[in-house]
Amino acid sequence: MSETLVSLWTAARRRLEAAGVDSPVIDARLLLEAGAGVGRVDIVTDPRRPVSADQVAAVEALLRRREAREPIGHILGRKGFWTMDFAVNADVLSPRPETELLVEVAMETLPKGWPARVLDLGVGSGAILLSVLAERPHSTGVGVDASEAALAVARANAARHGLSDRATLQLGDWAEGIEGPFDLILSNPPYIPSGDIAGLDPEVAKWEPRLALDGGPDGLEPYRRIMAELPRLLAPGAAFAFEVGRGQAEAVQALAEAQGLTTTTPRMDLAGIPRVVAGRRAA
Ligand SMILES: C[S@@+](CC[C@H](N)C(=O)[O-])C[C@H]1O[C@@H](n2cnc3c(N)ncnc32)[C@H](O)[C@@H]1O
Repeated sequence: MSETLVSLWTAARRRLEAAGVDSPVIDARLLLEAGAGVGRVDIVTDPRRPVSADQVAAVEALLRRREAREPIGHILGRKGFWTMDFAVNADVLSPRPETELLVEVAMETLPKGWPARVLDLGVGSGAILLSVLAERPHSTGVGVDASEAALAVARANAARHGLSDRATLQLGDWAEGIEGPFDLILSNPPYIPSGDIAGLDPEVAKWEPRLALDGGPDGLEPYRRIMAELPRLLAPGAAFAFEVGRGQAEAVQALAEAQGLTTTTPRMDLAGIPRVVAGRRAA
């Protein structure tokens, strides 16, 4: 019997379930769409449409990668974040939904029409900085990363969204050599304790860049480095916001306060985990 869109989708879903993938239905559909070159509407409205041997082979190749727990974003080469689509590959962390909280803080902090200067430390794919610049067309930004390969992805994303002229994307070791003042400093640094990385889901432990994950022995090393530079880099009264890992909010607040910065109540993610530590330099 020849394969149809629905028979391929069902078989793919079963294989992803067996491989321990946590979103087998959606991922199977996304791989079917990408491999067979069909849209979601085709699958829903014409499920018994026959598929060719070439389409079956293309879906099979993508399915094998997902069975090996390669992240879906890497396989598709793109990830949705905030309101935009970002190119991603094995050189960058796939942007996470909870990181959109940093963009929310930015929207609350930066009035529309204000020519703000924004710094994103550990810019990765550019998801945070470029989302903020897209929402605030009078702003400019600097994005720093220690990975030249990650910066290549960020630059491609800036070009794709027409933001290259407002985003300076540069190689660096956190804020070393960066000159302020900035109106807003954002960062989602690596915050996994080194010893915990091997125990994470294979999508993360095996496929995401270690440089994007490893926060040192207690996961807090990047915050110590960055926080020490904030008083120098923030304009008087300017704001900062950092994503933090589970159980790290209090320690990161203490690091900020030790630098004379004020902090607000941490912002929770959808799972109820304190996820963003934000605050200001005194005016
Ligand atoms: C958790 S990822 C965040 C990427 C992106 N901002 C996001 O939220 O999706 C952390 C980023 O910090 C970068 N990084 C690690 N060590 C760094 C350092 N010493 N200086 C600058 N960037 C660094 C990594 O290469 C990685 O891109």
